Amino acid sequence: MTDRILIIDFGSQVTQLIARRVRESGVYSEIHPFNSITDAFLDEYAPKAIILSGGPASVTWEESPRAPEKVFEMGIPVLGICYGQQTMMEQLGGKVETSDHHEFGRAFVDVNKECSIFKGIWEVGAKEQVWMSHGDRVSKLAPGFEVVATSEGAPFAAVANEEKKFYAVQFHPEVVHTPHGAQLIQNFTHEVAGCSGDWTMAAFKDQAIEAIRKQVGDGKVICGLSGGVDSSVVAVLLHEAIGDQLTCVFVDTGFMRAGEAEEVVTLFRDHFNIKLIHKDASKLFFDALGDEIDPEKKRKTIGGLFIDVFEEEAKAAGGADFLAQGTLYPDVIESVSFTGGPSVTIKSHHNVGGLPARMNMALVEPLRELFKDEVRELGRELGLPDHFVGRHPFPGPGLAIRIPGQPLTPEKCDILRKADAIYLEEIRNAGLYDAIWQAFAVLLPVRTVGVMGDARTYDYVCALRAVTSTDGMTADYYHFDHEFLGRVTNRIINEVRGINRVVYDCTSKPPGTIEWE
Ligand code: XMP
Repeated sequence: MTDRILIIDFGSQVTQLIARRVRESGVYSEIHPFNSITDAFLDEYAPKAIILSGGPASVTWEESPRAPEKVFEMGIPVLGICYGQQTMMEQLGGKVETSDHHEFGRAFVDVNKECSIFKGIWEVGAKEQVWMSHGDRVSKLAPGFEVVATSEGAPFAAVANEEKKFYAVQFHPEVVHTPHGAQLIQNFTHEVAGCSGDWTMAAFKDQAIEAIRKQVGDGKVICGLSGGVDSSVVAVLLHEAIGDQLTCVFVDTGFMRAGEAEEVVTLFRDHFNIKLIHKDASKLFFDALGDEIDPEKKRKTIGGLFIDVFEEEAKAAGGADFLAQGTLYPDVIESVSFTGGPSVTIKSHHNVGGLPARMNMALVEPLRELFKDEVRELGRELGLPDHFVGRHPFPGPGLAIRIPGQPLTPEKCDILRKADAIYLEEIRNAGLYDAIWQAFAVLLPVRTVGVMGDARTYDYVCALRAVTSTDGMTADYYHFDHEFLGRVTNRIINEVRGINRVVYDCTSKPPGTIEWE
């Protein structure tokens, strides 16, 4: 079996980065919330080592999270990070106190002893940069441990029990601001835990296919294909695993980008030979939206109708036992809440969330453990074309949320589609596509006066948006040079009837959102 590391999550904002670093070291890892871990799970998962994440709680509180005791009794290496260090010390007989000396951000540690996780990077006597974020700190070591590095605010910045292979650090090796952090984690997974580092996306693919076959048996699976990267990868992966037991449903809302519907049909039905139902439902969607201009109502109407149409098509295809979804790792982890209260809805995202219960189907979510860039890599591994897996994200409600403040019509969608296609073509020609997280055109409800030839025009304004981002949560507007913007503007005004003015959106997120609605 592949070597695996288990990461026990105590709710840190950066737990995902631990998983990333471990996987970058060629070792498979999964994150599981501390309160979901049973002894039986530990036996079944059979990790080569365990990492305890940081978290917002304080060990000094009465009911703060703890690692299952079994973690320390399995005879495998354990690495505690920040809160993970503190609970480890407390559980193994040490003490933690709330300190006045908080450390947030860049800090330095003095390395005062050799340690297996420092091998090849940190030498005794060196001062090394790390990233700290803590209020509490360890005040008494658990028996069997010794201090291997100290910082001003954390006398026990790194501690170790080499005999048991238990290590615990107050700083965060998983973030890039701890320059040697990745190597430190690799030392833990390779040197200490003895993992071979041979985990690759090809290996993941084989594992995933095996797991899908086991879960699905000879059942039937239905998968909503949107043309986006995640659902495409799910579809192709499932098809490799179970062939014709899979049916894909592509609900064409009429709000797709230029050429997108054709591309989906050609690629999946003709090239991959996947059973695909292509439902052109654009009239239904336009009718359902009517004159609605309220962004939330539009989203709800589209989301609800999408589910209705999907369900109808799935039934017409003979029903299914399973619904496949492209749920990614960040979606899973966001649902672990330690604060209790509900978060504010900024925008209702469109998904097929209500469907499994309504149709009495179990879920197949083969991408649950992957990050977006890993999904792309898996897509390539499965033979999806590069330009397809590298695509910018596209929202479920599509162009409908890029025509704000005005009733939607097929004509307006056509105008927007043309402008958007020109903009993206120019971005590709300029070699900028991959440097940008997302770029698109927006059709504004404003008409302005222009002059073309000798005639007066009175047409719509188009806004161009492009942002850089790593996760869509925050974003900066993309700094095009003016010549590029001028070229795109000229082409749009000359080639798209109905638009006579183009503006560029320089808003970052926050305070703006990426989409206009
Ligand atoms: P916002 O506009 O909230 O967008 O800054 C963040 C990212 O999410 C995408 N987005 C959606 N994706 N369904 C989706 O699948 C939706 O309803 C939806 N709304 C926004 C948006 O394109 C950006 O990448």
